[in-house]
Amino acid sequence: MRVLSIASECAPLVKTGGLADVAGALPAALRAEGVGMRTLLPGYPAVMDALRDVTEVFYFHDLFGAPARLVAGRAAGLDLLAIDAPHLFARPGNPYMAPDGRDWPDNPERFAALSWVGAHVGVHGALGWHPQVLHGHDWQAGFVPQYLRQMGGGPATVLTIHNIAFTGSTDPGRIGSLRLDPWHFHMEGYEFYGGISALKSGLMGADALTTVSPTYAAELMTPEYGMGLDGVMRRRRESLTGILNGIDLDAWNPAADPAIRPYDSPEGKAANTAALRAEMGLPDAEGPLCVIVSRMSHQKGLDLVLDALPALLDHGGQLAVLGSGDAGLEHAFRTLGERNPQVAVRIGYDEALSHRLIAGGDAILVPSRFEPCGLTQMYGLRYGTVPVVALTGGLADTVINASPAALAQGVATGLQFSPVTVGALQGALTRLCHLYRDRDTWSRLQRNAMAQPVGWDQSARAYAALYARLTAA
Ligand code: ADP
Ligand code: GLC
Repeated sequence: MRVLSIASECAPLVKTGGLADVAGALPAALRAEGVGMRTLLPGYPAVMDALRDVTEVFYFHDLFGAPARLVAGRAAGLDLLAIDAPHLFARPGNPYMAPDGRDWPDNPERFAALSWVGAHVGVHGALGWHPQVLHGHDWQAGFVPQYLRQMGGGPATVLTIHNIAFTGSTDPGRIGSLRLDPWHFHMEGYEFYGGISALKSGLMGADALTTVSPTYAAELMTPEYGMGLDGVMRRRRESLTGILNGIDLDAWNPAADPAIRPYDSPEGKAANTAALRAEMGLPDAEGPLCVIVSRMSHQKGLDLVLDALPALLDHGGQLAVLGSGDAGLEHAFRTLGERNPQVAVRIGYDEALSHRLIAGGDAILVPSRFEPCGLTQMYGLRYGTVPVVALTGGLADTVINASPAALAQGVATGLQFSPVTVGALQGALTRLCHLYRDRDTWSRLQRNAMAQPVGWDQSARAYAALYARLTAA
């Protein structure tokens, strides 16, 4: 089975969030299922610099404004196609934003170009390699089915929703610059509340839709989570499946993690906890050391932590935070860290520190308002760092709540709270502190967490089965 994955970011080359981890992990996970996956990426500087064994696949006289090339090559163990289009992608920093933090004004065209080249490879292949499925991720790949239709048809298409909050919307004046057929500017096509939406276009046009957890798949059909697209999701209910993400078991392996003092049982965490306290300037404490590794955005519910914190600190607990994003949240956490000796805060993005936090923490907090899948709670499970999560999306699907029944049966792996409010989070933090004091129960919880499967096996099989269904039809 030959599949072209089409993504706007891909770890370890370019990453702003979990989408990159997933795009980077899928090819290896699917290889075991007999799927040969290549990944189409925009040729950002980080991608072009890393590429080896480069060969030219196509030359385009005019790719959305200037000449460009499609090249094939390898980087970081990935089999890549990269769009070498300096006018679109040779820009510093983040894939989506200028250094001043604002979105690039031509983002609609930049990622339309990604989708257009994806469709082109679907129709013409790449040096004799002809994908049977085009598998796009999020709005940046949303126009693939539309362009395929405009090109006269091609292989089967899958669109995965990692986050429906980003719709890739723009004004209808750009129909021409996006090379869209104006005939499809209507409710059954790419029109969305009077504008153009790349995501809506893909949701209407792709042969199959997936999202990254079964619970989020169900949530997407409700007005609360569908963000205006719930009607579209209900219409496409039959074509939608939730396939849970896995994590990279090599990069996140407590027994062989070069960033930490490796361990294979909960007892081994103590040295990491002590080292983390020393590094973050936290004193010893009676209660649990909670950690957070997160983008700072409304989605992640970190403002609730600011308000619920006394429930943790009053029981002798502590908090260590690594994150960046929203300026207001960064400021609030920085101030909290300066004022409170039991709280340590690092603003920034730091891969190695994220490993030390997850290894050294007793618990990891993920109080998201919505969470399509979430990866850090799974890192927590694997590292025996008990996840305390909101009961939503993938957080609902990956953690077994320490209810009295689950504790009695010995299957609990973490704590869940609902609704996503300060009060419910306070309740969870109080419960956490009580559980932490009961050493037997706590170590049982940690062991269960470490034993829970969080890899890609099952999900890779689900994707492979989906590709097989689509190409058999
Ligand atoms: P999202 O994609 O919504 O941000 P996920 O939990 O799926 O959420 O993925 C986030 C990824 O980004 C994880 O791999 C997490 O470890 C990483 N991450 C987030 N913030 C930071 C940070 N400040 N430093 C290092 N890694 C981070
Ligand atoms: C998105 C979601 C996150 C998910 C990630 C990878 O960024 O916010 O929940 O884990 O995509 O699918």
